[in-house]
Amino acid sequence: MNNPIISFQNVSKTFSRKGENFLALDNINLDINKGDIFGIIGASGAGKSTLLRLINHLESPSHGTVLINGVSLQGINKKQLNDVKKDIGMIFQHFNLLNSRTVFHNVAIPLILQGRDKAFIHERVMELLEFVNLGDKAQSYPDELSGGQKQRVGIARALAGNPSILLCDEATSALDPHTTVQILLLLQEINQRYGITIVLITHEMSVVQKICHNVAVMADGHMVEQGNVLALFGQPQNTVTASFVQSVIHDRLPEQTVARIKQQKDSRALRLEFVGQTAQQPIVNQLIREYPVQVNILFANMSEVQNTILGFMIVQLRGETAHIDSAIHYLHTAGVKISDV
Ligand SMILES: Nc1ncnc2c1ncn2[C@@H]1O[C@H](COP(=O)(O)OP(=O)(O)OP(=O)(O)O)[C@@H](O)[C@H]1O
Ligand SMILES: [Mg+2]
Repeated sequence: MNNPIISFQNVSKTFSRKGENFLALDNINLDINKGDIFGIIGASGAGKSTLLRLINHLESPSHGTVLINGVSLQGINKKQLNDVKKDIGMIFQHFNLLNSRTVFHNVAIPLILQGRDKAFIHERVMELLEFVNLGDKAQSYPDELSGGQKQRVGIARALAGNPSILLCDEATSALDPHTTVQILLLLQEINQRYGITIVLITHEMSVVQKICHNVAVMADGHMVEQGNVLALFGQPQNTVTASFVQSVIHDRLPEQTVARIKQQKDSRALRLEFVGQTAQQPIVNQLIREYPVQVNILFANMSEVQNTILGFMIVQLRGETAHIDSAIHYLHTAGVKISDV
């Protein structure tokens, strides 16, 4: 097992507000592996930005330890801390560009602060602007750009110092859906081409669905669930997670419909989950042909998560109990995950 590039160990953060203490993060434990695209999702006020700000030491924990590459940010001197910070880039919801400076200058800022010479800066900035597809905008000002273009400048600036970690705080929340997808694809390319670890904060599950490998779900300062995106989308354990998943994947029937079905005799309503290959087999066809049960398909939906097909179906099986049981046994052996509705 690799050592995580970012590790939270029993981290809590308390803010003082008008003399009262407010627990913004409560005993967070989290490991993010190198090369991951890690999503952190939660409602407003859940503590997402606070968590992100602990990674690049804009905040420090009230309890516990944040480790970057195995090094505790709490136990090192200023020079070492600056070295760690240089290795972390960040992009923001509202881009945080200097409007009085050109696109070129905005991207150059981290390099100027590092004391790089002019020729180096010119070459690196132009290379980055080409990479984010803004080679022709070097002399433009931020106000002359669209939101998507501004975020591309933000991304180029964050990459200027060659970081190994890129933090994204609601980086697509101010963008329209089409531009959001373009920016997410760019982040994915950065991850794949340069192996940069991306930590991405969002309140939109569609963002997690599109590019994250792993995800942590936060509510009221707590980490309520974390894991692989595909597993978490398929079988959310926590109600907060389930409601985020349902915002992009509909897999529920109206409650009254469920109640009506449950009243019926010799019947069982099941939620079937098909993952990957299982979603491409004629399993239901086989079920209908080979088992003496009636199959009533109440709902079906197919999505793609992490390039894998994730299918949900809600079916009502009607017939003798023994026949229904053997039909369920068949579905199990065919690799379908089954739960009662
Ligand atoms: N510097 C601070 N002083 C006092 N309270 C703070 C401070 N920073 C954050 N908080 C509080 O901590 C809680 C978590 O804030 P945080 O900004 O991390 O939430 P968030 O999940 O990023 O929300 P949003 O989605 O709205 O950005 C909030 O209740 C916030 O008011
Ligand atoms: Mg925030």
